[in-house]
Amino acid sequence: MARIASIKGRLLYNSRGSKTVEIDVITDNGDVGRVCAPSGASVGKYEAISFPDNSPEKGLEILKANEKKFIGLDPSDLKSIHEALREIDSTSNYSKIGGSIAFSLTIAATESAAKSEGIPMFKLLTKDSDLKFPFPLGNILGGGAHAGPGTPDIQEILVCATGSKTIRDSIEVNLSVHKELGKILAKKDPGFTNGRGDEGGWAPKLNNEQALEVAARACEQLGFTLGKEVSLGVDFASTTQWNENKKKYVYDRAGFENTPEEQIDFAAEIIKKYKLAYAEDAVHEEAFEDMAILTKKFPNILITGDDLLVTNTEILKNAAKKRACNAAILKVNQAGSLYDAIEFAKEASKNNIKLITSHRSGESSDSHISHIGIATKSKMLKVGVMGGERIAKLNELLRISEYDLIRGMVEI
Ligand code: PGA
Ligand code: ZN
Repeated sequence: MARIASIKGRLLYNSRGSKTVEIDVITDNGDVGRVCAPSGASVGKYEAISFPDNSPEKGLEILKANEKKFIGLDPSDLKSIHEALREIDSTSNYSKIGGSIAFSLTIAATESAAKSEGIPMFKLLTKDSDLKFPFPLGNILGGGAHAGPGTPDIQEILVCATGSKTIRDSIEVNLSVHKELGKILAKKDPGFTNGRGDEGGWAPKLNNEQALEVAARACEQLGFTLGKEVSLGVDFASTTQWNENKKKYVYDRAGFENTPEEQIDFAAEIIKKYKLAYAEDAVHEEAFEDMAILTKKFPNILITGDDLLVTNTEILKNAAKKRACNAAILKVNQAGSLYDAIEFAKEASKNNIKLITSHRSGESSDSHISHIGIATKSKMLKVGVMGGERIAKLNELLRISEYDLIRGMVEI
């Protein structure tokens, strides 16, 4: 069995050009696991802190000072690595060492173990042999915290090839919709610069309604029926709009405000009109009761919590009790360590809550989440459609398909 021989950290940059960390875990037989941490722009109040005092350098220093705690551990034993990490930082939000260090270290250890065993990483994370591909879910049009002024308030309009039978087809369908939408936008606005938001979705000067209309048109012009071969999804990221003083959702760019009741109707109208398969954070991060109303109303749509749950097992238990959602985003760096995230995944399946493993808006070109999405039996993998750091995750799914270990697509 391999043992951790050394750990090396370095300062790098993410897709937004912000500082981040990368960690190598090296085993005694020379296998290297290497992971670079992503970061969010629309960050939930209760997610793990990325770096102590906002300083990646400080996180790396603390890791270096504590390297010995990890030397000699079995890199495949996530629990013991997690426990060693917790000896350094027992805070609920990793404020001492930083969630980005917890993220990179635990995934890098897992990757080094998979390499030393000569198996793909997803095989190391699950004993289950009945594995299927999650459906790629990708951003085709971005606004909110991911794009500049003039774009929609709604953060993300997403596409998912819900009718696809193979992983390659599902990727190709998403790509075709993204491209078709680009053509429509160029025709509609001669001043359109082909600009894209942080996650590779187009960032046009359109309001929410116009943005949804063109996204639907792109699917239909390709001959797809919404809700069949292809479905749209929306990440409302409503916490961005929520104004705690006014107790209203303020849609600055579109120029209207919604009371909590109006916000539920606003989201419900969009879900019905565009036959959405997926609706994320349709209300703000603490509005569990309002989410429960939507979950009850739309039992067959993935009513998904991201900022609502922040990949936190305790919050998930509370949400499950209130039946606040039927689906949950899994972002390992919201939780902190991979161990935390796997515990979250177990709790979700115990409660029949479907998982969507997700990237962050500030990403690296790593593709470990493709393995994590498969191993956690996620229904969807939210990783974008275009852009080097997005396509890296999709390309990894295609490489994984060569192993012949995975049989078709999951059932949503
Ligand atoms: P973030 O956005 O990575 O900026 O948080 C992604 C999301 O809200 O789903
Ligand atoms: Zn989100």
